[in-house]
Amino acid sequence: MSGNPRPIFEADVEALSHDGRGIARVDGKVWFIDGALPGERVTARGLKGRRNYGIAALESIDKASERRTTPRCEVFGTCGGCALQHLEYPAQLEFKEQVVKDAFIKSRVTDLPNIERISAEPWHYRRRARLGVRFVPQKGGVLVGFRERNKSYVTPLQECPVIAPEVDSVIPFLAPLIQGLSIRDRLPQIEVAVGEGVAALVFRHLEPLSTADLEQLHQFADQHGVQILTQAKGPDTILPLSPEAAQPLEYRLADFDLRMRFTATSFIQVNAAINAALVSKSIDWLTLTPTDRVLDLFCGLGNFSLAAARHAGTVMGVEGEAALVTQAQKNAEMNQLENVNFECRDLFDESAASWAPGLFSKVIVDPPRTGAIESLKAVAGNIQPEVIAYVSCNPATLARDAEYLINQGSYRLTRVAMADMFPHTAHVETLALFERSEPSG
Ligand SMILES: C[S@@+](CC[C@H](N)C(=O)[O-])C[C@H]1O[C@@H](n2cnc3c(N)ncnc32)[C@H](O)[C@@H]1O
Repeated sequence: MSGNPRPIFEADVEALSHDGRGIARVDGKVWFIDGALPGERVTARGLKGRRNYGIAALESIDKASERRTTPRCEVFGTCGGCALQHLEYPAQLEFKEQVVKDAFIKSRVTDLPNIERISAEPWHYRRRARLGVRFVPQKGGVLVGFRERNKSYVTPLQECPVIAPEVDSVIPFLAPLIQGLSIRDRLPQIEVAVGEGVAALVFRHLEPLSTADLEQLHQFADQHGVQILTQAKGPDTILPLSPEAAQPLEYRLADFDLRMRFTATSFIQVNAAINAALVSKSIDWLTLTPTDRVLDLFCGLGNFSLAAARHAGTVMGVEGEAALVTQAQKNAEMNQLENVNFECRDLFDESAASWAPGLFSKVIVDPPRTGAIESLKAVAGNIQPEVIAYVSCNPATLARDAEYLINQGSYRLTRVAMADMFPHTAHVETLALFERSEPSG
């Protein structure tokens, strides 16, 4: 933006971008304005960009949207944790449904079923999070919080309205705790994980903790009723501070009478209520019977596999992370399920997926943001199951993969649900059901 690096301009906001910024067109240039909402007239300040588009900060709202609401969090706008607290919650849901529709349409998937909705209490839902820690003497010492929006600085937090209450209540005490440690400048992050009745905090440290440090951590754990773990290097160096008092982390899937055990840093779905609803809906849509042989790809610790195993004949879960495969096997044993097996495979490697036609009657896929195109080629090409339930955390890759299943794999998209796993953020979780339109060869 040479010449005029910080132009101030007025704009009418037309839409929300997929990361929650207001979109406006001014003199042929598209601006993405932080904090602006559709229908608003705003004054904005250009920050960076190119000839055709730019990022802008909100200077003032000259005419506010009726759907604007007061953010609950004091650091909303600075903290990178949330993007939509200024938009009333029903409008957030509508926005996310539109994101799903737009993604499908962009990938030329046009024959869309009605988008169903899975939502729950939108506050205090996060049971997994990573808090950044920085020692910044100029700002008074240790800061603990999420990273700032688009920056690597930490936003100091005193409370967080989206994190689980068990963690929210200890947030104001974390910075003073770390400030009192000998390695206050060598502790970059705290991972938090909340199970039923247990909150675990994993302190990553780059230098050894002294005896006095350990004593302070013990006192903190006792005083606040949390479990502390320490991590000197990789995930296999995580140790409970008090092994004798360590309680396992677990969540329940009540509809399936399941208890799922997990470790403090392993993948679990962030929102317990939405996860339970998502698992129930996907198993419902699959209409499993004892003759079904189910394949669950990207199965993690068995979240969908074990629920499927309650209704299907057999289930095979496939997952790339060996520790999760082991955890999934333990979860199957803990729940006395003998009709489910797990396998460790890299599902981004097309050659790995060489399952025979008809080997599985129904398939679940729940890939990371990059999607599942490699394994879907094997699923649609070789296995040709009757139905595929696709759980997605990225509408763009879901839509790309849907286009493949429909145009190359003779599947129809018959049901779609938007699940609001991450209220107040711009993240969109979707469940889609694909049914085979032709009998398999
Ligand atoms: C969105 S998570 C879903 C996990 C599980 N279905 C659940 O509900 O808890 C995606 C999973 O894909 C796994 N994954 C990522 N890349 C993989 C790969 N190349 N091959 C196999 N699994 C992979 C991750 O370890 C993670 O467990």
